[in-house]
Parts: sequence; structure tokens; C-alpha cells
Amino acid sequence: MTTLSTATDSRTVDALLSRYDEVRSYTEQLAAPLSPEDQTVQSMPDVSPTKWHRAHVTWFFETFVLAEQERNFAPYQDKYWFLFNSYYEAIGPRYARAERGHISRPGAHDVGTYRGNVDARMRDLLDTLDPGALEQLASTIELGFNHEQQHQELLLMDIKHVLSANPLQPTYAGTPAPTGEPDRLGWVDVEGGLVEVGHEGGGFCFDNELPPHRVYLEPYRLGDRLITNGEWLEFMADGGYERAGLWLSDGWGRVQREAWQAPFYWQQLDGVWFEHTLHGTFPVNPALPVTHLSHYEADAFASWAGKRLPTEQEWEHAARTLLGEPDDSANLADSQTFHARPAPPATGGLRQMYGDCWEWTSSAYLAYPGFHPAEGAIGEYNGKFMSGQMVLRGGCALTPPGHARASYRNFFPAGARWPMTGLRLAEGAAK
Ligand SMILES: [Fe+2]
Repeated sequence: MTTLSTATDSRTVDALLSRYDEVRSYTEQLAAPLSPEDQTVQSMPDVSPTKWHRAHVTWFFETFVLAEQERNFAPYQDKYWFLFNSYYEAIGPRYARAERGHISRPGAHDVGTYRGNVDARMRDLLDTLDPGALEQLASTIELGFNHEQQHQELLLMDIKHVLSANPLQPTYAGTPAPTGEPDRLGWVDVEGGLVEVGHEGGGFCFDNELPPHRVYLEPYRLGDRLITNGEWLEFMADGGYERAGLWLSDGWGRVQREAWQAPFYWQQLDGVWFEHTLHGTFPVNPALPVTHLSHYEADAFASWAGKRLPTEQEWEHAARTLLGEPDDSANLADSQTFHARPAPPATGGLRQMYGDCWEWTSSAYLAYPGFHPAEGAIGEYNGKFMSGQMVLRGGCALTPPGHARASYRNFFPAGARWPMTGLRLAEGAAK
């Protein structure tokens, strides 16, 4: 299958088993602070209940691995294929996405039992597969790991919205960053030219990162850090949400229809702006990256600043050539901040490229030249969403460790605000 490429040593039974346990237990770790009631709520159609995420990623292994390879396969429960199929037309009909919060049974505990059943069967299967069958299945199992990691991030983004809707302002985890002022934005020059983008070499990638190919980039500059709340407050004070000329037409329509005045999780109380986070609601900290913006807001800010958003190719080329792959310093979910944090001190190089906030680019989410989705239901994973969405790069403070890389292409509709999104400015440079 073309869905991924991976190093051979990650395909041994021991390596797969240990990775399986690691990924599966991290999901349970993230859900652990949440009560069964927390795990049942769907606060808007884009959000899924925590227990649905936990069940759906399990369904993925049951449907795409066990059903294919287990001797005398029988589903754990007859109707789970219907309840926990997300969007796979080839698998059959499914329960309406917007109504996932109507389901009280199976409860969070029952979902845990389902997970335990599939885990035991997956371990048995992996233990008994012959090398040929293992080689065949390894790609799908690794896709299952990465699929579950995507849902780990969604679980956190979704529970943030669920908890934000509660007037009691319950918290999830993490501690607020110290309040401060942002440093001055610096710029990093990138030469451009004929450059290579897309995933190459070993390690997992999704099919939408393939094939690697060349693109020509004019010389450009990138902001050396993310745009901050402090800078966003300046944009607001200068009438940023009131000046039609700064906005794309669709974005201006949303500003008016939905009365946007500030980022998604901001609210004004007695003249002071507060921000809801997974660790509570606090006065807006000017030093933190601004987050939970639509693409429209990011683009309007760039227009206001006399700059633009980077293309996804500019972002990837700069990340790859100036930084390489993310290291432990990236603010991903394992740092347990569960929120963007202030930029580290300026170094003259790029800061905050990985982690903190997914960065909106000006690139529409389209197939790379020569892209072919995989055969069968699994081919629905990415390719069929290549319409009407924009690419984001870099990962965020809710992205699991090991799930960010230079070639990773995330995507959301331009109006999406509940994901942990932010922006970095770009501009052309003299040749
Ligand atoms: Fe999924």
C-alpha cells in the first residue's frame, strides 16, 4: 500500500507490540482525568465525545486489522461498526456525526472493556502472524498508531470545547505560563530556489505527504516566532475586526454573521479580555502566542501587518533546512502545558516552528503531483478531503510526541476556530 513508508526495524513483532501498548495507553492516560459524564458530552457538531474517540480508534484496529487477519473473526459487538465508523463509505452506513453526543450506551466504562478486548486480540494476532502476513499488515498497524495519535490531539481539542461550555469553568490539566510582554518580532531570510518538499526516507508518513517533489520558491522571509496575544490586541484596538478591507470576502461574511470580535476562546469581562485554556480561564497573557483563530483571522492580521501567510512549501523548506525534525524542546503534548507558551529567547533563527500552535498557511489542501490514494477503504483516509480546506503546519501543544515532522500536512476548513491554530508572518525578500 502507498499509505506510508517505514523503517524495517519498526516492523518486528516486538517493536509493533511495544509501540501498540505505548500508543494505546497514552489515549487512556489522556482520558483519565475525565469522568464518564465528561466523556459523553458533544458540545457542537465538530466535537466528538471522548468515549467516541476512544472507541473509534479501537474500531479502526478491529475493522482494518482484525477483520482482515483474525481467524474466525467476529465483531466484538454487532452494531459497533455502525456507531464508530467515522467517514468510511466503503465500510457502509454510519451513525450521524453531529449526534454522537446522544449516545449514552456504551458508556465510558463499556468502551474501556471494548478497548481491552481488541487489545488482547491484537496482541494474540501479532504473536501468531507469520513473517509474510506481518509484513503485509505492518503498514496498516502503523497507520492505526498514527490515526490514534491524531485522535489523541482531537480528544484534547474537543474536551477543551466541552469544558469551555460549562459555567463552572472546570479544568483539565496544565499550569498557566508566567505573564509577560513579547519580545520584538525578528525575521529569518530564506534563499529559496528549486527545492524538495514532501516526505523522504524512512519513518512513517501519511499518503498526503507523498510523493516528494521539487518546487521553485522565490526568496522569502519568515517571522522568527508566532504572533502573540499582545500583537493581536493591537490588531483589535486598530479596528481589525471592523475593517472589511483587511478581510477575505468569506471571512468578512463570518465576522458579520457570527459577530467575531476576538479569538475563539476569548471573552470580555468588565473591560478585560480573558482566555479559556485547559487549565482555567485567565486574563489574556500578551506574551503567549495567539491561538484558536480561523484562517480568515490569520489572513486579516497578515494584511493589517502589511505581510502575508507563508505557503506550505515555504514553511516546510525552512523547517527542513534550517531546523531539521522536532526535538524535545518543542511544546507538544508531552510537555504537559496543554497550551502554547511564550517564545524562547531570540537566537536569530526560527522559533516555535514545532508545537505551540498549528500554523495556518496560504496553501489550499491539494494533492501533490503524482499522488495516488491507496486501494480500498483505507484510501479514504486523506485523499477525499482535498477540497475546500487549508493546510496547517508544525503541530501544537496538544499534538502527541513523535507526531510532528517537517513534511506533516494538517488541514481544516478556513472558518475552523476550535483547533489550536495560530500564525506566523511571511514576506518576499529581495533577490
Ligand atoms: Fe478517525
